[in-house]
Amino acid sequence: MKAIGYTDRGPISTETAVVQFETDKPRPSPNDLLVEVRGISVNPVDVKVRANRQPPDGEPHILGFDAAGIVKEAGATTTRFKPGDEVFYAGDVTRPGTNAQFHAVDERIVGRKPSSLGFAEAAAMPLTSITAWEILFDSFGLNDGEGTGDSLLVIGGAGGVGSILIQLAKKLAGLTVIATASRPDTRAWVEKMGADHVVNHRNPLDEEMRALGIAPRYVAALTQTDKHFAAIVELIKPRGHIAMIDDPQDLDIAAIKFKALSFSWEFMFARSMFQTEDMDVQHQLLNRVADLLDDGTLIPTVNMHGGEMGVASLRSALELQESGTAIGKTILDGFSPA
Ligand SMILES: NC(=O)c1ccc[n+]([C@@H]2O[C@H](COP(=O)([O-])OP(=O)(O)OC[C@H]3O[C@@H](n4cnc5c(N)ncnc54)[C@H](OP(=O)(O)O)[C@@H]3O)[C@@H](O)[C@H]2O)c1
Repeated sequence: MKAIGYTDRGPISTETAVVQFETDKPRPSPNDLLVEVRGISVNPVDVKVRANRQPPDGEPHILGFDAAGIVKEAGATTTRFKPGDEVFYAGDVTRPGTNAQFHAVDERIVGRKPSSLGFAEAAAMPLTSITAWEILFDSFGLNDGEGTGDSLLVIGGAGGVGSILIQLAKKLAGLTVIATASRPDTRAWVEKMGADHVVNHRNPLDEEMRALGIAPRYVAALTQTDKHFAAIVELIKPRGHIAMIDDPQDLDIAAIKFKALSFSWEFMFARSMFQTEDMDVQHQLLNRVADLLDDGTLIPTVNMHGGEMGVASLRSALELQESGTAIGKTILDGFSPA
């Protein structure tokens, strides 16, 4: 099969950062589905894995996490899907990626593809939806469908995660959502995703929130958390909850004591990485997200369709992702079916 990987960690512009090659089709384990990949999206984790994981000499490592496609084979113990089913999922950071014609994935982290979306458009959704869902309903402990009258500040609102978190927070958790954006385009985007208010993360966020007159109970720190952390502690309600998803180098965790804040570090790959007993909740939540997309409760978060998967198109998509200025999600169609 065709696949695209990298053989070294150099700048994305170098030849070895994006390499197309031929390799064997993966063999599905008993819990796996073998999926023909028909659409993918890129994520910051593609950039981070490439920056941190040097493949052994000459062996390209296949990147890619989000995918949508068609089940070609179902492993011996699978029960949720059968060949021919259309699925979407965010993969597993410990396994080879989805930038390939075929991909093997544990069915417990796979959902049915929304029928109203094309494959690539569907592939924009899984990784960010799982992250946003786990922030709201695992970390914050909110209840799906039960509004609390509280507010949520989403820092990095126009990014991939912010785009779906704003929607889920409003539509399912009934929160008032304040999103941060620093440019006219990102401001317009977070408003389209449903943000009630927009503040600018280029200014101190405690000052921005004071001017708005809202002290949120919840803060989702999606990016640049170390830069915003002191302001978050200042602006949040006492006994509030901060959830973070990025990788700050230096965080003064003692600062949360006097407001008795809760703090969570969400990692959407934790369930698959540690094969937790409740891995199947990601299957269930993806099915629910598919329903919500199909009935129009949620809108797709695609902003850029980069064409069919290939060295040039994937390199451009990764360059945009690396720039830190992505709006919503960037998607590619899979390789043409063999
Ligand atoms: N732990 C997990 O499970 C998990 C899951 C998904 C993602 N992540 C991590 O979460 C982070 C965000 O992911 P993403 O996909 O949403 O990213 P993204 O799409 O790359 O985010 C881009 C957005 O970040 C905003 N931004 C840039 N500088 C900022 C700043 N100083 N303060 C606030 N916002 C800023 C930009 O808005 P403007 O252009 O308006 O400035 C831009 O729209 C990444 O580090 C990713 O690796 C973790």
